[in-house]
Amino acid sequence: MRVRAAGLIIACAGLPAAGADLSPIEPGFDYHSFANVDQFRTTHIDLDLRIDLEGKVISGVVELELKRLDPRATQLVLDAKDLMINDVMQKSTDVLGATAGNQTIWVSRPFHLEKPDPILGSALVIDLPPSRRPGESIRIDYETLPSAGALQWLTPKQTAGRHKAFLYTQSEPIGARTWIPLQDTPQVRATYKAKIHTPSDVVAVMSAENDPTHKRNGEYSFVMPQAIPSYLIALAVGDLQFKETGPRTGVYAEKPVVKAAAKEFADTESMIAAGEKLFGPYRWTRYDILVLPPSFPVGGMENPRLSFITPTVIAGDKSLVSVIAHELAHSWSGNLVTNATWRDLWLNEAFTVYLESRITAVVYGEQRASMEEVLGLQSLRRDLARLPPKDQVLAIDLRDRDPELVFSDVPYQKGRLFLSYLEAKFGRERFDAFLRGYFDHFAFKSITTEQFDQYLNEHLLDRFPGIVTHAEALAWEHDPGLAMDAVLPVSGAFSPVDEARTAWLGGKLEPKTFGLDWVTQQWLYFLDNMPAALRAEQLARLDQAYGFTRSSNAEIEHSWLVLVIRNDYQPGFARLEEYLTTVGRRKLIAPLYAELMKTPSGNAFAKRVFAKAMPGYHPVTVAAIETIVNPTVAEGSE
Ligand code: BES
Ligand code: ZN
Repeated sequence: MRVRAAGLIIACAGLPAAGADLSPIEPGFDYHSFANVDQFRTTHIDLDLRIDLEGKVISGVVELELKRLDPRATQLVLDAKDLMINDVMQKSTDVLGATAGNQTIWVSRPFHLEKPDPILGSALVIDLPPSRRPGESIRIDYETLPSAGALQWLTPKQTAGRHKAFLYTQSEPIGARTWIPLQDTPQVRATYKAKIHTPSDVVAVMSAENDPTHKRNGEYSFVMPQAIPSYLIALAVGDLQFKETGPRTGVYAEKPVVKAAAKEFADTESMIAAGEKLFGPYRWTRYDILVLPPSFPVGGMENPRLSFITPTVIAGDKSLVSVIAHELAHSWSGNLVTNATWRDLWLNEAFTVYLESRITAVVYGEQRASMEEVLGLQSLRRDLARLPPKDQVLAIDLRDRDPELVFSDVPYQKGRLFLSYLEAKFGRERFDAFLRGYFDHFAFKSITTEQFDQYLNEHLLDRFPGIVTHAEALAWEHDPGLAMDAVLPVSGAFSPVDEARTAWLGGKLEPKTFGLDWVTQQWLYFLDNMPAALRAEQLARLDQAYGFTRSSNAEIEHSWLVLVIRNDYQPGFARLEEYLTTVGRRKLIAPLYAELMKTPSGNAFAKRVFAKAMPGYHPVTVAAIETIVNPTVAEGSE
């Protein structure tokens, strides 16, 4: 539990466990940061970092420009986790009010790290004199530790090119503090600049202005002129090539992947155009895509100007590119209007899933969008079945828990259903006007669920009274389960799939006589809705006919492997092992481990393969799989 003491927030270990009845939540209070944001707020971040790909260390200096809100404050509290802090300095002009000639003088300041909390890391407490000046600049000389949770260091062998090492960051939600000491809370927004020094044969890219024509010389400069929350600061270093896909779009990827990536993501400009038409201007100048190695732990990460994307999206037929529509949609919901705390994550993700679907409908047709909505609903139902009621709500209580490990479809799919419900109730025209107004009103702001509520009341519920009550909207946000009057998606394209499945199960239809014109989403629906038990011979016939075990579509492969495990279909296990040791995307592998853990032999297989695969996983994936494979040892599991 966390208490505030004399303006300082301290974490206390050993107090009520997660889920215990705590005091009421204080909306807008970030329970996942130590930063004393009521006294200081970062406005600009300047990084000067050296990337040692062999030593696996980032070292250098961060300069934080801070606005001082409290002249009496004598301590600045930052977030830090797994960092070595070498020195902390303050710009002397902040103290003396003058420079010595043209030179900036930096004065060392006393600092200490509080006892670390296993989830949050340490409060980095810096002593400062009280001041009436409006702001100060702090410089911290630091380096990362091998345990840094946001970083994955890949050896050359773990990359597609196999010749050069690779580094990338995944900072959302609270990982930025493992590679930069800062106010690691989404309610603080700052612009940033960075100088990145690398070995001279690799390329560095960031969530900022990137120059695709920059020569490989080991020195890279970046500017992010728009104020963003810390979780959107991102960096990748590796043997990257660039390929343009449009006037303001392109892909960065390793050489063996870049051509296929550019082909797969050729519609990005059409997606931006669709987004702009629906939700207002794209405000981030360029939109590039960085394709990561297969160990990347998420499908995509909306790092501004440069989405980070899993290579598992490249299926060869653009069938999985809704992930791009999703990350692009975050350019409005998430990056422009941001959740103020991790309890408010649903504001980022629900709007984004909704926008994603609207963009998909324009670029790939209503049918594709509605099929994906139905699959999303099915996935939500599976999550609701396993989650305790307190975790089935949109505005979730994450106190004392790692937001990373309480991850589910609720903020995504239930959140989207809330927005679809509002759309259905008020009509698309009014809802679209509301959305545009919302993005304009809160552009470059971080907001809470309660601020959203107020805006919703004013601009929709009270503006068109008698349609949805305040209580109904609040129930969507705070009640578990699915509202009775939810408007559930349906897709006509799934009817033939249901019919074929039933007929095949009843022995009335042979493989190869159906499914010849099905798209990816229909195959997923076919496989995901199989009965609990199938016979080995049935699976063998399917596999023979459709080649599931060797599918080049990572999602179809995933759905197939669930059946392989559930039915102990031995011919699929070699492929399963290969899949689990190459793919690091949590959403694709966690359900496979969970399925394996249901039987003693599966359990042994899971433990063996996890031990083998672990060195190739990102720390985030390791932590998530750990809770499944070793539930009692792993932290944060319950
Ligand atoms: N911002 C999320 C990823 C994220 C959320 C990372 C919370 C850490 C904490 C990203 O936009 C996302 O939602 N990715 C999805 C893909 C999407 C198509 C649903 C994913 O990774 O599966
Ligand atoms: Zn998202």
